[in-house]
Amino acid sequence: MSHVGNNQAQPHQTEPDQTEPEQAQPAQAHSHQAEVSGQPASRPQTIGVLGAGRVGTAVARQALKAGYEVKIATSRPAAENALLVEIITPGAAAVDVSEAVQADLVVVAVPLHRYRTLSPEALAGKTVIDAMNYWAPIDGTITDFEDGVRGSSEVVQEFLAESNIVKTLNHIGYHDLEADGAGPGTPGRRALAVAGDDPEARTRVAEFLDRLGYDAVDAGPLAAGRVFQPGTAIFNGPHTAAAVRDLLGEVLDNAPDNTPDNAPAAAAA
Ligand SMILES: NC(=O)c1ccc[n+]([C@@H]2O[C@H](COP(=O)([O-])OP(=O)(O)OC[C@H]3O[C@@H](n4cnc5c(N)ncnc54)[C@H](OP(=O)(O)O)[C@@H]3O)[C@@H](O)[C@H]2O)c1
Repeated sequence: MSHVGNNQAQPHQTEPDQTEPEQAQPAQAHSHQAEVSGQPASRPQTIGVLGAGRVGTAVARQALKAGYEVKIATSRPAAENALLVEIITPGAAAVDVSEAVQADLVVVAVPLHRYRTLSPEALAGKTVIDAMNYWAPIDGTITDFEDGVRGSSEVVQEFLAESNIVKTLNHIGYHDLEADGAGPGTPGRRALAVAGDDPEARTRVAEFLDRLGYDAVDAGPLAAGRVFQPGTAIFNGPHTAAAVRDLLGEVLDNAPDNTPDNAPAAAAA
């Protein structure tokens, strides 16, 4: 089993259990495993990835395997990334941010301390997956994320005010993202929690996760993302959908009024 090989606070991968999928096998165009319900959402076909680092390139490769058209951008001009993208994520296109944000779904995989370099205008109206985590030793101490109440994605949502932020993919290591994916219905299939304030955006993201090879578990509003930030039990997975539901339930049941708004930061730690 792979472990995250860097010094960031990243999802910890435990040893495999009896139910772990035996091989990576991204799902192909499948949605019934996705647990997020809501109105039918149009099926995203293009994925824009902001960030060509460890997470961004892993998401890109997995999305390519699932049949998506993938466009990757960094803060530098596309031409500067072309060779890297060709080698690391063959099949993806290196583009400028302005083109990546035109995709059906945008994944933000940049260091959190860079979040204010994202463009609220360019991302307005988009469903944006926030895969970022706050880790002070890497990001530095950022006052925005130190209030001990709001989750990091809520802060990002406040900045990207016109976007539909969906928190997920933050609680799986970049190595594991490619290793743990499995087809729908695979016993012990790994699950990822999904939190966001827009139900349709959650549905779209859940379908994306399903195609990447993961069950999606609806955690509800973005505030619920606090229960899968670094240091939480969900963050320290892997977990099946049933286990994620149990962990979410435990935290939400303990909240004073049973709403995610009252879930304390890192409540499941
Ligand atoms: N490592 C993991 O296993 C893991 C797992 C889950 C979540 N995460 C989280 O995911 C985020 C990314 O982590 P990482 O390890 O992939 O970081 P990384 O390897 O340092 O890569 C970051 C990428 O973001 C790009 N970037 C910076 N600012 C940008 C902007 N405004 N627009 C577009 N691209 C930009 C960087 O390129 P330029 O600087 O050249 O623009 C670089 O390609 C972090 O918040 C981390 O906590 C990490």
